[in-house]
Formats: sequence, C-alpha cells, structure tokens
Amino acid sequence: MDSFIVEGSTRLRGKIRINGSKNAALPIMAGALLANGPSVIEDVPNLSDIQHQMNLLTELGAVVQRQSDGSMKIEVKDESNSHARYDLVRKMRASICVLGPLLAKRGEARVSLPGGCAIGDRPIDIHQRGLEKLGAKFRLEGGDIIVTAQRLRGADIFLGGNFGSTVLGTANVMSAATLAEGTTTIESAACEPEVVDLAEYLNAMGARISGHGTPRITVEGVADLKGCRHRVICDRIEAGTFMVAAAISNGEIELENVRLRDLMATVDKLRAIGVIVDASNGGCTVARSQRLHATTITTQPHPGFPTDLQAQFMALLAIADGNSIITEKIFPDRFLHVAELARMGAKVHREGATVIIEGTDQLVGAPVMASDLRASAALVLAGLAAEGSTTVNRVYHIDRGYERIEERLNKLGARIQRVDQRELEN
Ligand code: EPZ
Repeated sequence: MDSFIVEGSTRLRGKIRINGSKNAALPIMAGALLANGPSVIEDVPNLSDIQHQMNLLTELGAVVQRQSDGSMKIEVKDESNSHARYDLVRKMRASICVLGPLLAKRGEARVSLPGGCAIGDRPIDIHQRGLEKLGAKFRLEGGDIIVTAQRLRGADIFLGGNFGSTVLGTANVMSAATLAEGTTTIESAACEPEVVDLAEYLNAMGARISGHGTPRITVEGVADLKGCRHRVICDRIEAGTFMVAAAISNGEIELENVRLRDLMATVDKLRAIGVIVDASNGGCTVARSQRLHATTITTQPHPGFPTDLQAQFMALLAIADGNSIITEKIFPDRFLHVAELARMGAKVHREGATVIIEGTDQLVGAPVMASDLRASAALVLAGLAAEGSTTVNRVYHIDRGYERIEERLNKLGARIQRVDQRELEN
C-alpha cells in the first residue's frame, strides 16, 4: 500500500486543468447498457473507481475500450450475464448504478447489496421503492438483490428520503424509466449536475427526459436507445478540492475547465471566509492572502453545500480565526477525518453530526490514516499547511477519485512523495 509524504509550509501557485467528473462518468458508463450500438464517452478520468466500473461492464457483456484519444468506447455484445458480483460491488458502492439500466434493457438484474463503507451505511431502499413503482420485483438472496420486471410501466414516484434526495437512486430510476411504457414523474429527484449530465446523455441516445436539474423530472418512455458520443462535465468536487488547496496553502491557483455555477454554495463559503475567487473564461482563480474567518457549514443536497467537500473545508477552517461549525446532514457519520486532523493539532470536537472547529494558528505534520476518498484528500491539504512533514497512509483511497493528485499538486509547488508503506516500516 502506498503512502504520501507531504512536506508542509508550501504555497501553491500555477494553473491546473480540472478533469472530467468521476460521479458523472460512473452512471453514464452504466447508462451505456441501455443502448443498442456503441457509445463513446469523452473526458472520463483515469481512476481506480472508473477501472472497477469498466471491469463490471465487461462482466456484464460490454466491450469497454479506451480509444487512442483517451475517450472510452462502450458497446454491449452479450446480455446473458446480468450479475454484478459482490467482489466487484464491495470495491465500489457506486456499482449499484447498473441496476436501473440492466432492469430496463434486460428485464433482470442481480446486484450485490453495497453494504456499508467509511462514510456510513449505503442503503438502497429508495432505489427499490422507485423501481418497484415502475413494476420491478425485488428479492434478497445471499446478499444479492435479484430484480425482475416483465415490462416497466411509467408511474408517479416520490424519491425523497430522511436525508433528502438520492443521487444514484435518481440515476437508477430515471435510467429505468427511459424504456418504461408511458410517462414517469420523479418527485424529489436529485438536482446534482451529475444527474443532469446523465439525463443529457440519455436524451442524446433518444430518451425523452425533462425537468432534470429540478426536483421534478419527467420521463416519457421510448422503445429503444441508440449509443452516442458524450463528453462528461468537469469534476466540481475535484475543483472544490483544488480551490481549498489554494486557500489552505496561502497560494494562488488558476483552475481551467470549471463550471462555477455548479459550485455556488462552495464559492459562497470560500468568499465568506476571506478567500478570493475570481471567475475567468472557462474557469477561475483562487487566492488567499489574509487570515481566514470562521463560518458555519451544513451539508445539503445540491445546490446546497456538498458533503463531498465537507472534510476539505474542515481542514481549511482548522487554521481560520475563531470557531467554525460543520453539520453533516447527508452522511452523519462522515467524520473519520476528525481524529486524524486532531493528530495534526486541529482543535476539533464532534457532537453527533456536528463538529466544532476552534481555529488554530498552525497545524503540525504527523503520520495520519486515510479513510474515505474525500477525507484522504483533506489530510493531504492539511499536510500542505502544516509545519513539518505529514505521512498519509493508505492513499489508495485518494486514487479512487483523484488522478495522480501528488503529481498535479507538485506541479503547483507542493512537495509530495509517493512511497510504498513498507519502505517506511523498514
Ligand atoms: C453520490 O452517492 C456520490 N457518489 C457520493 O460521492 C456523494 O457523497 C453522494 O451522492 C451525496 O451527494 C457517486 O455519485 C458515485 P445518495 P449516492 O444516495 O448516490 C441516503 C464521493 O466521494 N439514502 O445521494 O450513493 C444515504 O444513506 C462519493 O465521490 C437512503 O437512505 O448517495 C445518504 O444518507 C461519496 N436510501 C443520502 O441518502 C437510499 O436508497 C444521500 O445518499 C439511497 C440513499
């Protein structure tokens, strides 16, 4: 397993291009299962989560190939196997997004229940509620859900849950509804840009979806869908992560390939604490040259503050002036980074789904343990600002969602070395 050794007190400066969105690409790749003929998806980042999805689609009978221009060609050749095995799904819970496409196109699916992960339980009861309304039958066998449907029929579906909308639940139900008979209305749909991007791709394949990006999506079923070419949107969470990197390191970074309209809650908070965010054509410049102010953050479904940037902002607020409060409303247990930041001198105190952060002047480098994808990124960011060096262990978590992050941060002036953890133990 690899670790990062992050040298502290580094100011980041320079320009960086933001990659295509992992969380848009994953459901879009699954959506290709709905099509007759090949799809070519552009700007799919080269990440371990994407590789897992490629492996899964291959097992489900698709030929999945990176083209010479970096795009990804997906064509279903064999529909005889519709089993998403536990061994693949346990490595990436997002594999659940093949459920809707398989059900709609093949009338059956066997998908391992995702199980829990570092950020909490990952139930799929809302996915099930929506697909059952379309006519699907669910049963549980050996940890797998077996889902069948003779013919999906359009329905009026409420997809809200105790934590608001569900991103992949909306993706599954919207995808399945494209081939259902009649019209489906999805109430309390997720409004995330990644759901909008999926809808755009499905419409380009011949689906008839409207209202995507709002809490009410309407889908008029069609007979079939045809593969097409589609470029995924830029990764707003990667962009937000690099914005925090500029702020936490007292630096200045120009980001290219960013849609600021997808990050309004994030930019609002950055500006509120004293970070400069200037829009430029196709991107923005982020800089910080003064002490940061404290603030309060509550994570919410889009367009609210994204849970996927909660850990990164906690690292940033750890060096702000005054007391900040972060409340996690999406994944209330998404706080594995709290204890690790405390090892670096952050004054953080958790009370249930809320963390109080008492700003301190200086973090201090220490050995820390990565856990979930975004918490791991937060520890690297904290290491940039800390005095001395920080060793972040188990960085395979980071590789799931950030392509060669150490190389890209080093190009901006960071000093991060990737080492095999065994080298550290010798
Ligand atoms: C997507 O996960 C993202 N993953 C997550 O990003 C992101 O944190 C999450 O949306 C919230 O924005 C991908 O897009 C691949 P949800 P998803 O269903 O769809 C509860 C990252 O770091 N819920 O919107 O699985 C659930 O427990 C990852 O890139 C139910 O109760 O999340 C949670 O509390 C981490 N029942 C809340 O809803 C259900 O059937 C939101 O979950 C489904 C969800």
